[in-house]
Amino acid sequence: MTVLITGGAGYIGSHCCVAFLQAGYDIVVVDNLSNSNRMSLERIEAITGQKIKCEIADIRNQDNLERILKAHNCEAVVHFAGLKAVGESTQIPLAYYENNVVGTHTLLSAMANSGVKQMIFSSSATVYGEPQFLPLTEDHPTSAVNPYGRTKLMIEEMLRDVAASDPQWRFGILRYFNPVGAHHSGQIGENPLGIPNNLMPFITQVADGRREQLAVFGNDYETRDGTGVRDYIHVTDLVEGHLRAHEVLASGSARSNCFAVNLGTGNGYSVLEMVKAFERASNKEIRFSFAPRRDGDVAECYANTELAEELLDWKAERDLDAMCRDTWNWVCKNPRGYEAPST
Ligand code: NAD
Ligand code: WQD
Repeated sequence: MTVLITGGAGYIGSHCCVAFLQAGYDIVVVDNLSNSNRMSLERIEAITGQKIKCEIADIRNQDNLERILKAHNCEAVVHFAGLKAVGESTQIPLAYYENNVVGTHTLLSAMANSGVKQMIFSSSATVYGEPQFLPLTEDHPTSAVNPYGRTKLMIEEMLRDVAASDPQWRFGILRYFNPVGAHHSGQIGENPLGIPNNLMPFITQVADGRREQLAVFGNDYETRDGTGVRDYIHVTDLVEGHLRAHEVLASGSARSNCFAVNLGTGNGYSVLEMVKAFERASNKEIRFSFAPRRDGDVAECYANTELAEELLDWKAERDLDAMCRDTWNWVCKNPRGYEAPST
């Protein structure tokens, strides 16, 4: 079976390509390289020993997508392509609505015209807004506090409407908690351009000397040490969840033709616990100072994982030490990301 992977050159998409290739699927990547480097595709080939088909293309070009879907006989889609920076989404909201919402609409239209009716979609725990209870179950009310989150909610609604219109469509909406880590080979990993917004990439850049210190956003939350708590999940576990979701959808064994499921570990770690874990893994001091809370941040966010276990027969296996160790391995082997050869 050939699976189209949009955004396959990006952080999570590249790991997903490896997982699907190693599981025996043929894949075709569609990526416009707006937030990635084509070197990641060569690394995927190096890890798997397989050639991948890649189309440098934009998901907003429907004719081209239809050509690609038909030319490669694609039967399913895993859809990662989109913009993902929360802060940036408040500055350039129209770019977010266009890439994420219009882009997904265009992709769905191309799929409909090509008879491809199965998609896994990258959603986010951000759709739960401010938690009303913890751990977060999939039936927790949804809300969004920024344009990025609203694009995810709108796309989820769009998928539910399409699924309701025609039972042949099959959608797996996967709500990621906080993906971190890298492939254990150190060949692919997260490669943010500019100043990282997220905690783990920022910590790595303090560890390798690129940044002086970490600003810890808030130490007065009602958490065990006052800093924000999140459910960090190893990217390898995350993409294994995609593989399971794909298999469940393809087998037709899902209870409904559109499900939303959390992909997290169910464990919450604070910012200070992350700093300590990274110090253990890297043997480097992570200097930090406390700073005011960041706008829009919640105190705590972690997943209830029961539905994923029940529906997908999947559970995250890698612990925080593995997440930090694999991140540090990737950074040490690629001090300039994909810009220089891996050492
Ligand atoms: P990423 O930026 O590394 O990957 C996204 C890829 O999509 C990039 O390679 C980019 O070049 C490509 N892309 C963007 N717009 C495109 C377009 N119009 N046409 C074709 N390609 C396009 O991001 P990631 O961290 O791998 O995230 C993948 C998906 O998962 C995104 O949809 C993101 O919103 C979602 N997600 C990510 C996180 C996270 O913390 N990383 C958490 C929850 C959800
Ligand atoms: C984690 C914790 C920060 C940076 C974001 C998006 C979410 C999802 C994942 C896509 C928080 C603290 C961070 C720093 C810090 N992405 N922190 N100093 O905010 O949980 O989620 O990424 O869907 O939508 O909102 O992740 O890694 O930014 O922050 O103290 O320099 O680290 O306050 O407590 P977050 P994060």
